Formats: sequence, C-alpha cells, structure tokens
Amino acid sequence: MINMLYRNSKMRIFYSLLLFTTLLVIVKSQNGLSPCGEGSAIWNSDYSGWTDGRGLCGLPTPPSGVVVAGVNRNYFTMTSGSGLCGTCFKLTGPAGSVIAQAVDVCDATALCTQTDHAHFILSPADYNVISGNSTATLYNVGYQMITCPNEGDITVTPKPDGSGSYSYYFSLTLSGFSVPIKSVEVTVGGTSGAYQQLKYQSSLWVFNKNSIAFTFPGKVRVTSQTGQQIVYSMTNGAAKMIPNFDQAPLYADCGTPVAPQYIYQDSLAQGWTDASWDFVEKNYNDNSAASGSNIAIGLSAYGGLKIQSLTSFSTANLATLEFSAKANVSNSQILIFLHKGANFNVTVGTEWANYNVTLASLSAAATETAIAFQNFQGSSLLLMVDNIKWGYSSNVSTSTSTSGTGLVTMPPVTKPPSTTASGSATTTSVVTTASTTAQVTTTRGPSGTTAGGDGSSVSDSENTGGDKHVDSSSSTKLTISTITLLLISIILF
Ligand SMILES: *[C@@H]1O[C@H](CO)[C@@H](O)[C@H](O)[C@H]1NC(C)=O
Ligand SMILES: *[C@@H]1O[C@H](CO)[C@@H](O)[C@H](O)[C@H]1NC(C)=O
Ligand SMILES: *[C@@H]1O[C@H](CO)[C@@H](O)[C@H](O)[C@H]1NC(C)=O
Ligand SMILES: *[C@@H]1O[C@H](CO)[C@@H](O)[C@H](O)[C@H]1NC(C)=O
Ligand SMILES: *[C@@H]1O[C@H](CO)[C@@H](O)[C@H](O)[C@H]1NC(C)=O
Repeated sequence: MINMLYRNSKMRIFYSLLLFTTLLVIVKSQNGLSPCGEGSAIWNSDYSGWTDGRGLCGLPTPPSGVVVAGVNRNYFTMTSGSGLCGTCFKLTGPAGSVIAQAVDVCDATALCTQTDHAHFILSPADYNVISGNSTATLYNVGYQMITCPNEGDITVTPKPDGSGSYSYYFSLTLSGFSVPIKSVEVTVGGTSGAYQQLKYQSSLWVFNKNSIAFTFPGKVRVTSQTGQQIVYSMTNGAAKMIPNFDQAPLYADCGTPVAPQYIYQDSLAQGWTDASWDFVEKNYNDNSAASGSNIAIGLSAYGGLKIQSLTSFSTANLATLEFSAKANVSNSQILIFLHKGANFNVTVGTEWANYNVTLASLSAAATETAIAFQNFQGSSLLLMVDNIKWGYSSNVSTSTSTSGTGLVTMPPVTKPPSTTASGSATTTSVVTTASTTAQVTTTRGPSGTTAGGDGSSVSDSENTGGDKHVDSSSSTKLTISTITLLLISIILF
C-alpha cells in the first residue's frame, strides 16, 4: 500500500531521505550517547548491595546477572523522559565484562559533567570484574548499549494526590522495562480525549494540571527511547502489568575493540593527558607516520615525553606496553618507565620501528599513573612516537569487528515528520490502541513503513533538542551509521 504512494523514483528518494533524516535524528538523540565507544569507569562502595528504588531512577533490583551503574549527568539531561534510566550497557575492561543498568546519575566529579565520553560508576566488586583491581581508581572501558535481559512485564503503579483524587494530580511509577522510556502520556476527557504528557520527576511520571481534570477511564501511551509504543486503558488506580517492549537485540557487537587498548592512536585516548618535561617543541598531531597522526616532541637532554593518566590505573592484566618510535639521531637511548627507578632502555633509530616492553621489565606496581619516554642521549633529540597501547594478559576480547556499525535492528519510527506535506503517505496507522476493555497492545511498526500515530509536537521539539548534543567522539561511528541508514532507507522504499 505504501509503495503505491511512491509513484516514481524521485518520490522514492525524497521519502528515503525523509525517513533517513528521521532515523538519523533518532540515532543521534538516542540518549545523546553513541551506542558504543570507549569510556571510563570508577568504583564507589555506595553501589554495593544496591536494593530497590535507590538512585535517581528509582528502578527495582535489576534482572539477575545485571549490575547497577551511575552514568554521567550530562547524558541524562540530554534526553527527554527518563533519560538513561534503565539503559543496559556491556562494559569491558582488560579483566572482563559486566552488564550494568543505569539506575543513577553520577554527579560528583568533572567526569560526571563532561560530554565527550561515557563515565560509569560501579560497585567495587563489579569494577573489579572489569579492571582486575577493586581499589584502583579509574579504568578505561569499552561500552555497548544493549537491551536489558529483562524477561518480565512492566508494572505501572498509579498514585493519587494526598486526598486520594486523580483529577488534577497523580503519578505513575513504571518498573521492569527493558528499553528506557521517552514519554508517558494520558488522555484527558475519556479514552478518546487528547493526550497530555506526564512530566518525569525523579522516577515518577507526574500529571499536574490546574484546569484540565483527568477522569477514569483514560488511555495511557508509553513510548520507549527507541520509538516502540505501548497503549493501554487505565480504568482505575490499581497497579497494572503491561507487556514489555520488544526485547530483540537493539545493538550487536560494536565495531570497536571491546576492551580499549590504545593510549595514543592518532590522538590521546580518554583519560590521558600530556605531562612532558624539558621539551622545546611538542606536537600530538604530527604526520610523519605512514598514516594518521603521531606524537613529535623536541626534547632537551634528559627531557621526556610523559603521558599522564587522569588518576591511577590498575596494571592487573596488563602484559606489555607496545609502541612505534623513531628519532632524528641514530641509536638514540630512550628510557621507558612507569615510575622512577624502574627503567627499560631502548635504542631508537631514524626509521619507524615497533617496540614491545613487558610490564614485568618495567617493574609495574599494582597501580601506576603515567608512562614516560626519557631522552637519555645527553643532547637534544626529536622523538616521534605512535600507536602506544597495552597488550593484555587476560583473554578478554579485543578483536575489531569489521561488519558492525553498532546498530543492528533499527526500531521503527513512531510518527511521521511534521513537515510531510503529503501527509497521506504516513497516515497508515500502526499504533493499535487497546480497547476500553483494558486490552494491551505492544506496537512496533512493520518494517518498511513509518508508523503513524498522533504523537504530540512536544516530542518533536525534544528530538531536535537531543540532536544538538551529539557525542563528538562518536562522529565517525555516526557517519558509518548514517551511510547504513541511508542504505536501509533506500532499500526499504
Ligand atoms: C589494587 O590496587 C591497590 C592500590 O590502589 C594495591 O595496593 C593492590 O595491591 C592492588 N591489587 C591488585 C590485585 O593488583
Ligand atoms: C642503555 O643501553 C645501552 C646499550 O644498549 C647502554 O650503552 C646504555 O648505557 C644504557 N643506558 C642506560 C641508562 O641504562
Ligand atoms: C609483545 O610481546 C608479547 C610477549 O612478550 C607477545 O605476546 C605480543 O604478541 C607482542 N606484541 C607484538 C605486537 O608483537
Ligand atoms: C634533532 O632534533 C633536535 C630537536 O628538534 C635538534 O635540537 C637537533 O639539532 C636535531 N639533531 C639532528 C642531528 O638533526
Ligand atoms: C580465559 O578464558 C577462560 C574462559 O574462556 C577463563 O576460564 C580463564 O580464566 C581466562 N583466562 C584469563 C587469564 O583471564
């Protein structure tokens, strides 16, 4: 039926682009965070023995096998609705992986307010699983958003105002959802009345009006951050079980190493900063390397290139420090060390060569804070270094998938863009509302159509808002996703 509307290929391309743009907005605004990438993790004993309803999100205890996490504040505020609440992440460090559900906001340090990478807080025990040391302070992790392994229904619990009335004020608590929630709406003036958005206020979805009174029965429409919708009829103030969102995997393994290995690869990785000494020039974007950027530093005699970790890092499961280097003087003596007095001596030549230094030969302590390359030549030297990375002693996966873009099953679009002039193209309604007999329908758009629906313009502006805050470090991945989405949308039509 849809195809009849696209009579010629120009129209096809037009609608493809339209769908593509809509999908792109969704991808970008999906929690303001790219679905996979590298981030940092830290531990906090407050997260040990976490029980129901704690943290900003007020979620119940996560499903078995899922631990709790706090995630940086700025990624919560970038999203409408309940933000990242309920999002599950697979976190991987050199010692292993955990699946953690965002149940709280990380609010304490600069790491919590930055917007260029994800930052996770875990309990010491869970942090130990990924870092190999429960008390080292910070670890780089690879993360992937995944659908929470949640088997049950969603429970919706209404609560009236202080006097027991639902007319002008009430709240709904949702728990057990497998995909985070973007909006909850209720109809006012009966089940065919207009939808009103509920406001998300620290784990409650709140209806709070002065002049518009809610009356039973009303329809409730729950929309996930991925655009799936559940519509049901609320006939009284009793708690209700509704079917969960479709739990098909949203994201496959990402096209990135799941445990970050690089400290420098074209640029410094998250959590590392320059702290060099006695240098005359320094360039972290030099292009003497065969491809990409490298570090080039003009060092005075005994000066050094020093790369400092934001805080200490655990050396558990680190086996080797690998890099390539060259200098402008042949047989340059360079001392490598993690801490003073534990040097490893390498001879660097005037051509690029690879070096592989074991952490044992650097007498690595349980935690270290920096990596230094000191000019021990006795005279000035131009040192160039590239591809500085760890080799792990664990067998945690570091393989790079070439097929993955991070996105596998792109969820349906729930509503047509309001700019669709010939709106008839998208009026095919696939949002099946439940009848007043309180029957519940979980709705997913059939593949190849943009799902209809009468979403309010509020969600529109929120989508656009989220779009402004794209994780800048994910631009490459977004570009790949962009191309994939363009292809998908062209194929669909
Ligand atoms: C973990 O790190 C602490 C220092 O933060 C250190 O004292 C301890 O030995 C380390 N444990 C392991 C198993 O590496
Ligand atoms: C480094 O090794 C070279 C020989 O390979 C030696 O001549 C030099 O003294 C050593 N330097 C240090 C600081 O150990
Ligand atoms: C570095 O050395 C270790 C053994 O010491 C080895 O397992 C690893 O493959 C080496 N890395 C490279 C890039 O050759
Ligand atoms: C090597 O580079 C250093 C720093 O730029 C410079 O001072 C020195 O003269 C150079 N040496 C040679 C042999 O080019
Ligand atoms: C490697 O993986 C196996 C399971 O596949 C595990 O039993 C073993 O402990 C791992 N070894 C290390 C060093 O992590």
